[in-house]
Formats: sequence, C-alpha cells, structure tokens
Amino acid sequence: MRSSNFFTFLLLMALLVLHERTTAEDDSSGFRGYERDALLDLKAGFNSSFLDRNWTGIMCYMNEAPYWHGIQCVNGRVTGIILESMGISGEIKTNALANLTELSLLSFKNNLVSGNLMEFANNPKLRKIDLSDNKFQGQIPSSLLYLDSLESLLLQENKLTGPIPGFNQSSLKTFNVSQNNLSGAIPETKTLQSFGLSSYLGNEKLCGPPTRSSCNTTIASSQSESENLSSKGDGPPVGAILVVVNVIVLVVIMFLLIIYYKKYKKLKAEMKAKNLLPKDEEHDSTIVDRTMEKRNREIEMGKLIFVENNGPRFELDDLLKASAEGLGHGNFGNCYKAMLEVGPVVVVKRLKDLKPLSSEEFMRQIRAIADQKHPNLLPLLAYFYSKDEKLFLYRFAAHGNIYNRLHGGRGTRNRVPFRWSSRLAVARGVARALEHLHLNTRSQTTAPHGNLKSSNVLLDENDEVLVTDYGLSSLIALPVAAQRMVSFKTPEYQSHKRMSKKSDVWSYGSLLLELLTGRIPAHSASPGTNGVDLSGWVHRAVREEWTAEIFDPEIAVQRGANQGMLRLMKIAMKCCEKSPEKRPEISQVVAEVEEVKVAVDSEDEEFSYSSLDPSVTDESLSATASAVIADDRR
Ligand SMILES: *[C@@H]1O[C@H](CO)[C@@H](O)[C@H](O)[C@H]1NC(C)=O
Ligand SMILES: *[C@@H]1O[C@H](CO)[C@@H](O)[C@H](O)[C@H]1NC(C)=O
Ligand SMILES: *[C@@H]1O[C@H](CO)[C@@H](O)[C@H](O)[C@H]1NC(C)=O
Ligand SMILES: *[C@@H]1O[C@H](CO)[C@@H](O)[C@H](O)[C@H]1NC(C)=O
Ligand SMILES: *[C@@H]1O[C@H](CO)[C@@H](O)[C@H](O)[C@H]1NC(C)=O
Ligand SMILES: *[C@@H]1O[C@H](CO)[C@@H](O)[C@H](O)[C@H]1NC(C)=O
Ligand SMILES: *[C@@H]1O[C@H](CO)[C@@H](O)[C@H](O)[C@H]1NC(C)=O
Ligand SMILES: *[C@@H]1O[C@H](CO)[C@@H](O)[C@H](O)[C@H]1NC(C)=O
Repeated sequence: MRSSNFFTFLLLMALLVLHERTTAEDDSSGFRGYERDALLDLKAGFNSSFLDRNWTGIMCYMNEAPYWHGIQCVNGRVTGIILESMGISGEIKTNALANLTELSLLSFKNNLVSGNLMEFANNPKLRKIDLSDNKFQGQIPSSLLYLDSLESLLLQENKLTGPIPGFNQSSLKTFNVSQNNLSGAIPETKTLQSFGLSSYLGNEKLCGPPTRSSCNTTIASSQSESENLSSKGDGPPVGAILVVVNVIVLVVIMFLLIIYYKKYKKLKAEMKAKNLLPKDEEHDSTIVDRTMEKRNREIEMGKLIFVENNGPRFELDDLLKASAEGLGHGNFGNCYKAMLEVGPVVVVKRLKDLKPLSSEEFMRQIRAIADQKHPNLLPLLAYFYSKDEKLFLYRFAAHGNIYNRLHGGRGTRNRVPFRWSSRLAVARGVARALEHLHLNTRSQTTAPHGNLKSSNVLLDENDEVLVTDYGLSSLIALPVAAQRMVSFKTPEYQSHKRMSKKSDVWSYGSLLLELLTGRIPAHSASPGTNGVDLSGWVHRAVREEWTAEIFDPEIAVQRGANQGMLRLMKIAMKCCEKSPEKRPEISQVVAEVEEVKVAVDSEDEEFSYSSLDPSVTDESLSATASAVIADDRR
C-alpha cells in the first residue's frame, strides 16, 4: 500500500512538472495544457470516431481560427463547445467542465448523451447552455443558480428528475425544461415565473403556477379518492366509510401515543438511573436545546454538519468520492487530505479512542470547539457524527506544520532556511491563539489547548500561523490522552496529576525553545527520533558554559537579531518553570512576545541589553545568554 501510494505520488509529481512545462512553453499562445486535457477527457467518454480523428494536436493558437471541430476560442482559451446533432452517445463526467473556466457557450443539442448533468461551479462566464434532446438523467444541479451571466438554459427532452432549483438570475431570458420527469412546485421566483407554460410542459409531477395543477397534493389525492368512491354506486355510502376510516385512524393514533409515552417514561427512568439527565431538565428547554435537537436529527441522517453558515457546502458522498491522500497517523486517529471534485481541499480527521459520551454531550463539546474563532486558530469547517464514525473537517493548510518546517530537510540541499523573523511570527501567532483560548475557557482545571506542539502549528498559503488540535482533551479517553497529549507531559502532571491553564503555558515555553534551539523536545518527538528535555538542556548549557551552541545556527548567524532571540529565550525559560505558579499568565506572555523585535532598534533605550552592539559576536552572545538565564534562575 505505502509503496504504491508513494509511486502514485512520484507519478503525479512527474506529471505536474510536465504540465508546468507545457503551459509555460505555450503561455505566449494563450493555450493551456489543462484545457486541452479536459477536452480530451470529455471526448474519451464519447464514441465518435470523427472527433477521435479531428481532435488532435492543439485546439487553438492565439486568435487564429480553432483547429478542432466544435471548439471556439478567444486568445487561445476555450470559450465554446458546440457539438450538435452528431449522434454522440456516451457519458459526461460531472466534473468535465471544472478546468474550462473561460467557457461561455455550451451545446450538445440533439445527441444521445446520458449521465448526470455537469457541475458548473467553475464556469462563471457561461451565457448559453443547450443540452436539449439528449438522455441526461438526475437532478438539475444547483451550481447553475450561481451563473450570473446565464442568458439561456435549454434542457428540454431529457430524463431529468427532481425539483427545479430556484433560478432567479435577471440575465436569464430563455428557459425550457419541458418533456422531462421533473417534480415538485415550480419556485415562485421572479425569473422562473416570467416564462410561459410551454417551458414546463410534459413534466406530469410539476405543480404550482404557471402550471394549472395546484400543489396541495394530500387534499387533492384524498379528494380524487372520495370522488372514485362516490362514483361507485353500489358500494356502501361514502359518509359511513369516512366515519369508519376516521375511527380507525383515531384508534391507531391513540395506540401509538400510548406506546410512545411508555417508551419515553422507560427511557427517562433509565437515564435517571445512569445519572445522565441534568437535574434542572425542566427549565432547560431553551432555543439551544431545540437547535441541538435539530442537529441530532441531522446526525441521525448521517449528514455533515457545517459550522459556518456561509462556508463551502458539500455532502458526505462528495467526500467519499473525492480523491484522498493519507496525511499519516495523527494523535487521535488518521488524517486524510481530500480533494473534492468541486469545492475546497479539506483535511478529514477520523477521531478514535473517544470518551464514552452521549451524543448530546459530544455535540456540546464540539460546539465549544467550533465556537473558538480567532485568526490564528484553524477553524473547524464541519463535523460528522454517527455511531461508528466521528469526523472533523478542517481547511487544508498549504504550507504544512512547524515541526517539518523547523526540522525537515536539514543538512540537505532541499532545506529552506527558517528565518528568525518567521520564527518570531510563529511565536506571536501561537501566543495570540492561546490567549484567545484561555480567555474563552472557564474551567481552571483543564488546559484549554491541551496539545500544543510544533506539529500542531500550521502555516497556510500566506504563511499565516494557524494553531490546530485544540480542545480535544474533553473528547479523548483519559488513558489515551495521558499517553499522547502534551498537557499530560508537564512537570506538575507527572508529579501531582495536576493540570491547569499553566500547562499550556509550559507547552508554549517548550515550543519557543524548539523554535530558538532548532532541537526536538522530548515530549513531541515522533517515534524513532530522539528528543531532548529542552529546558534542562538550556540550563545545563549555561552551567557547563557551552552556551554558544544554544541557538539554532541557522538563526544565530543573523546579525542584529540576537537581542530579540535572547529576550524570547528569557520568556521561554519563564514559561518552562517547574512550578506552574511561577509561570506567567498567557496574556502577560503575549504582551512580552509582542515587544520582542525582529531586528535591533538602536533608539530603544528601555531595553536592558541595549548596551549590546548590534554586531555582537557569537562569544558576546553566549556570554549574554549565560547572564540572562543565570539571572532567571534567581
Ligand atoms: C457508439 O457505440 C455503439 C456500440 O458501442 C455503436 O452501436 C454506436 O453506433 C456508436 N455511436 C457512434 C456515434 O459512433
Ligand atoms: C477538424 O474539423 C474541422 C472542421 O470542423 C476542419 O476544419 C479541420 O481541418 C479538421 N481537422 C483535422 C485534423 O481533421
Ligand atoms: C484540472 O487541471 C489540473 C491541472 O491543472 C488537474 O490536476 C486536475 O485533475 C484537473 N481537473 C479535472 C477535473 O480534470
Ligand atoms: C419518472 O420518474 C419516476 C421515478 O421518479 C419513474 O418511476 C418513471 O418511470 C419516470 N418516468 C419517465 C417517463 O421516465
Ligand atoms: C428574485 O430577484 C428579484 C430581482 O431580480 C427580487 O426582487 C426577488 O426578491 C428575488 N427573489 C424571488 C423569490 O423572486
Ligand atoms: C420548449 O421545448 C418544447 C419541446 O421541445 C417545445 O415544444 C416548446 O415550444 C419549448 N418552449 C419554449 C418556450 O421554447
Ligand atoms: C388546495 O387546493 C384547493 C383547490 O384544489 C384549494 O381550494 C385550497 O385552498 C388549497 N389549499 C391550500 C392549503 O392551499
Ligand atoms: C380513480 O379513478 C381513476 C379513473 O377515473 C383511476 O385512474 C384511479 O386509479 C382511481 N383511483 C383509485 C384510488 O381508485
């Protein structure tokens, strides 16, 4: 498995490199290799020997007439696909148009194409779509609703099912869905109601204006039933039948109510026995509970529950269909990177080893995690809860984690230097994120983050610092948590099984030491790597006077930065004090870290080491380091 994954990865990389080459070479022509690939992919689903012969070479070159039949281009980019009445059969993949972002005209009119309609999320410039007279099935995709330039949509004479989405683009002037198998009410939007009946004909199950059938089906059907009954002259009288039916229905309902009530009482008794019901249950039926109920119903349906109201939306199915790439074993379950066909790249975390919580309690904890919002916290996008599977979905952070950034590729040519200014930015971002968590957590006996370490600090595509994995200690079973979470590795937990907000401060101090020394701390070393008790190591370095080696050589050589590094080292050592009481509050830490300067500001008179020359030598640096840390010991 592993090796085949790796092989696929290599292959992909090779393809990517090739791709970059072709696009780079052809840039001047406007031609895009991936657009050509998309068209060839499309054609592969058809069985047209004509296109097989005709679609070869490149399709467009600058503003010359296109070389391929049925393709239109502007500046080398594909803007139209018109393949009409060619007897084409075959299927089109739903993501076939994903890479044709300049497309404005699309017509497969009068062919034999089957399959679901395509997704149009990546084709905002589409003006005219004609898929009429084919064999398309399935629903009309709602991505069509967001095409703001759409003028004409012709879908008549297919086998489409489901409802008509609520089209309301003012641009839409031509519309036809007749002769399909659509159902439900025609949405009463201004746009859809502006089209005449002939746009909707031949869909028996459509109702509401402009069709003549009204939509209250239950009454209509019972009416037609009673009509049928009354027309049967020799049967019993209608009135009698209705009375009998009513009596039966009433009896059934009462029966059900009794069963339900009994079950409810039994359940309540059971829960009381297990102490699961809160005492003030009666007073608690607030809006929160009702939304909770709604959520629980959603859970039962096995749906992804999105935290943001206006974030991206997709279903579990999309997630399962997405191509996935293992990101390795996380602390509490495996992580996958899933590339959705349409939508964002997300990281899926499968939670394992959970506490035996009721689903309500679980939801409450998740809400607490989801409600933590800060620019330096990686937000929870969505979650999924079922009996067998618990998933957390996060945005994918493109630039990876700090552990790899700091320790990866050392001593090789691939090593990208991790500059002092970037490390300081990480220190600041993490401190701010922690402060936010601490201010928004009431409990004094938990560590609000609980698992802060370099592999849980990520960088997004803009190198913004994002802290992840927070708040999980409320969900993970204790024995597992004690084995794996950083807040259980603190001196106070090791000796007295104590935990508090100061546990996070200790973890933060260790992270600072890791950033400053470039060494891996013992508590976050992955299996197979040797970690160091960093705080002990720094103290020993000072005692035994080999302080020149304290700082990571990669940053120690950065002239003018030494004062800042020393200052950060001092903060780190305070945070790593053995006794939690001696550690500063995180707010104080934030204030101090904010004051650390990237480079020496010569006018900064207040700084206690301002006597230092900006061009300190390594010796003077180490001398000062001893002073700082010795000073700190007192
Ligand atoms: C498509 O393929 C089927 C058989 O696989 C064949 O009967 C049909 O004629 C083909 N259509 C075209 C347009 O080539
Ligand atoms: C493809 O078809 C077009 C006409 O639609 C024609 O102009 C062009 O020469 C054909 N190209 C090839 C390679 O057959
Ligand atoms: C779109 O193009 C990219 C390369 O630019 C490729 O990796 C991706 O698979 C393509 N997507 C589809 C749906 O063809
Ligand atoms: C319309 O759809 C229903 C299922 O929703 C199916 O049973 C029926 O055969 C379809 N009718 C046509 C004409 O395709
Ligand atoms: C549709 O768009 C029009 C304006 O273009 C707006 O007045 C109307 O409220 C929208 N919604 C519906 C349901 O018609
Ligand atoms: C819609 O399509 C049907 C069937 O092709 C046709 O009879 C009808 O006239 C069309 N209506 C409009 C408004 O184009
Ligand atoms: C249901 O439809 C009937 C006509 O078929 C109409 O008289 C009645 O008002 C409708 N009821 C509702 C609730 O829309
Ligand atoms: C009612 O009568 C119609 C024909 O008039 C028939 O098609 C339909 O099946 C009947 N419905 C019931 C429930 O008997």
